[in-house]
Amino acid sequence: MTQDELKDAVAAAAIDEVRPMLGRDIVIGVGTGSTANCFIDRLAELRGDFRGAVASSEASAQRLKGHGIDVYELNEVGTMPVYVDGADEVNAHLQMIKGGGAALTREKIVAACCKTFICIADASKRVERLGDFPLPIEVIPMARSYVARELVKLGADPVYREGVVTDNGNQIIDCYGLDIDDPVALETRINAIVGVVTNGLFAARPADILLIGGADGISRHL
Ligand code: 5RP
Repeated sequence: MTQDELKDAVAAAAIDEVRPMLGRDIVIGVGTGSTANCFIDRLAELRGDFRGAVASSEASAQRLKGHGIDVYELNEVGTMPVYVDGADEVNAHLQMIKGGGAALTREKIVAACCKTFICIADASKRVERLGDFPLPIEVIPMARSYVARELVKLGADPVYREGVVTDNGNQIIDCYGLDIDDPVALETRINAIVGVVTNGLFAARPADILLIGGADGISRHL
């Protein structure tokens, strides 16, 4: 199977997880990226079975609307049963690096409002140790250089992702070379730097269910 076929297969598996949670009053959280797009496309089949979705990006909101799925503002809905999203890396503890698509802040907010986080990924995203993928950090634009200097003190090699503006009007720094020994501690430490909006470590609140699409089929991890 190609990587795209694996993404679609794992999205189909996520639909099977989500289907029993749906109902006419149910709003679900939907993530961002190419794997999440596969999920959105398959979610279209269930359009009449649930109320709608909260999207973690403008791009996902547009894709959902394109399928005739109602999109709600997060402030309009309460706690949602489930959030489905991809990841750039995921470890055995279901901790992730996310934000390759620059949507990390909204992803973390929407995930925080959902009872169950289902991470969907092809097998290339599964890692022993987080950190080969550069850690994305969303920063307030005026703080970018300051935050970068603070990140150097943590041992990172920060690189400004030029030309990218997040849905929140902010900028992204990608951190190379970080030694992510303790993901929860590093997530907390980076968030404490003034000017950081969010960092792409999803460790304090990892996924609850991980669906991996590989050569041998779909594996489910808790
Ligand atoms: C976007 C994300 C995505 O979930 C992550 O980048 C994975 O994307 P893809 O499914 O395209 O590999 O965090 O900010």
